Amino acid sequence: MAAETSEHFLQAIFQRRAVKLFDPVEIPPCIREQILDAARHAPSSFNTQPYKLYWVETAASKTAVSMPATSQAQLAWMRTSRFPEAKIRGYQRTAKIGRILFMPGPFGIFAAVKRALFWFLNLWMTSGMPPLSRHEQFKWAAKSTSLACQNLMLAAQALGLNTCPMEGFDHRRLSQYLGLSARYHEIVLVIAIGRKSHAYVEPPQWRRPLDATVTVL
Ligand SMILES: Cc1cc2nc3c(=O)[nH]c(=O)nc-3n(C[C@H](O)[C@H](O)[C@H](O)COP(=O)(O)O)c2cc1C
Repeated sequence: MAAETSEHFLQAIFQRRAVKLFDPVEIPPCIREQILDAARHAPSSFNTQPYKLYWVETAASKTAVSMPATSQAQLAWMRTSRFPEAKIRGYQRTAKIGRILFMPGPFGIFAAVKRALFWFLNLWMTSGMPPLSRHEQFKWAAKSTSLACQNLMLAAQALGLNTCPMEGFDHRRLSQYLGLSARYHEIVLVIAIGRKSHAYVEPPQWRRPLDATVTVL
């Protein structure tokens, strides 16, 4: 990365603040696209991108950035990008195993069986544990989603906008508004995005000192 690019990149990280007061601003579609594109470029577990992003412009109109089932979309992309047939078959196999691993089954029965299998496997080899219960799956998905959210906020910052991540919102009403199912979807974060108001007085930013935050082993 060129020195100037790294400087701009670090600036976006260090200058980003959770802004609480915005001036009215229109965000042009090309800027919106860049911000959302940066969000979807975040890394995700098994590249599953287990999230959807909703860009809500006004209370009355919203634009949903939706995707087909990720593995199907990735397969279609591999075909149009002329990946070798062996690679496509390999990905199909991995996606199938992923679907089986992630399926909790009725009353969580499959999850319990898989947990027992992984427990035994763990006795003689070191292995990770896939997210088996619904709760674990939400937690798993929230990690990848959070990275996309951070990408989104940093991209907005780099493009001269400000953001505020929020979990203080009415989950039930917002889910209803977006047409989400409480059983299958979790809203990880709401991010306000716009231009910081001139009237907004930014409080000093506090962080724990580096040596209290990091342990070097
Ligand atoms: C997961 C998460 C949830 C947050 N929820 C809210 C919120 O509901 N309302 C709010 O005003 N700020 C919220 N914030 C912003 C934090 O208060 C803010 O990031 C923190 O105080 C540090 O300030 P800074 O980001 O300006 O450095 C949230 C931040 C995160 C990461």
